[in-house]
Amino acid sequence: MASDHQNKEEGRIPSESSVSFGFRRVSEAEKRKLVDEHFGSIATKYDWMNTVLSFGLHYLWKRIAVRMSGIKAGDVVLDVCGGTADLALLAADLVSTTGRVFVYDINRTMMRVGQAKVAASHLSERVRFVQGDAERISFPDGSFDAVVVGFGIRNFVHLQEGLKEMHRVLKRGGSFTCLEFSRPDPAWFRALYHFYSFVIMPLAGSILAGTRKAYTYLPESIRLFPLPDELSTMLQDIGFSKIIYKRLTNGIAVVHRAEKG
Ligand SMILES: C[S@@+](CC[C@H](N)C(=O)[O-])C[C@H]1O[C@@H](n2cnc3c(N)ncnc32)[C@H](O)[C@@H]1O
Repeated sequence: MASDHQNKEEGRIPSESSVSFGFRRVSEAEKRKLVDEHFGSIATKYDWMNTVLSFGLHYLWKRIAVRMSGIKAGDVVLDVCGGTADLALLAADLVSTTGRVFVYDINRTMMRVGQAKVAASHLSERVRFVQGDAERISFPDGSFDAVVVGFGIRNFVHLQEGLKEMHRVLKRGGSFTCLEFSRPDPAWFRALYHFYSFVIMPLAGSILAGTRKAYTYLPESIRLFPLPDELSTMLQDIGFSKIIYKRLTNGIAVVHRAEKG
């Protein structure tokens, strides 16, 4: 007999709680499906659109995040929501021949794009791809020296579950590094960014990527995401220590770095 959980996943009975997908309230099962469809629909254009919409800044942000992670030779690293493998490639450069990087993502199409990039690099021996849900990571406790996650946790159905899972799979003393969009300052810059993200981005999405919907979800999900201090508190409550964060480009993006004590 199917369990309640299975039934909910398959959408046969309504989930008792609703969650946000952008500004819409949807069931948990529907959010999982919408997130998967969202990334499936933009996967082949994802890197290119990131570069255009961030004016290339996402590469710089990713470099800063990986530098802050403290990843070193021999480390075993998990790139959660690794998608097209940018963070994984940067990490792979640091782990040297004795280390390994695992890209962990729920969406096969995003990972296919990542696999092609990794195959074309000189680092392919160091990178592995695993498909799975970050809210139920399929690795044992204490498997990794470092966990990195870039622009991923905003899409979780249950943010806290995903964070707990990343804490669980880290070794004691291991580092957690999260790069995510946030709310920029000061107010005049935020107003400009607001116009850019709610008007220009969806327009660019429809013209350049053929999807306005995907690039409407992006600013909406950013708007609803916890502020840096709130995320720090969540990390602390889960058991992370030595939590710091760095605001990038006036806070458009933020890197949190913490350790499993
Ligand atoms: C915005 S992309 C980020 C990709 C990459 N980390 C980067 O920085 O460019 C978000 C990724 O998270 C993945 N994702 C979303 N929810 C997930 C979940 N619950 N478990 C695993 N991956 C998930 C998506 O499939 C997508 O590849």
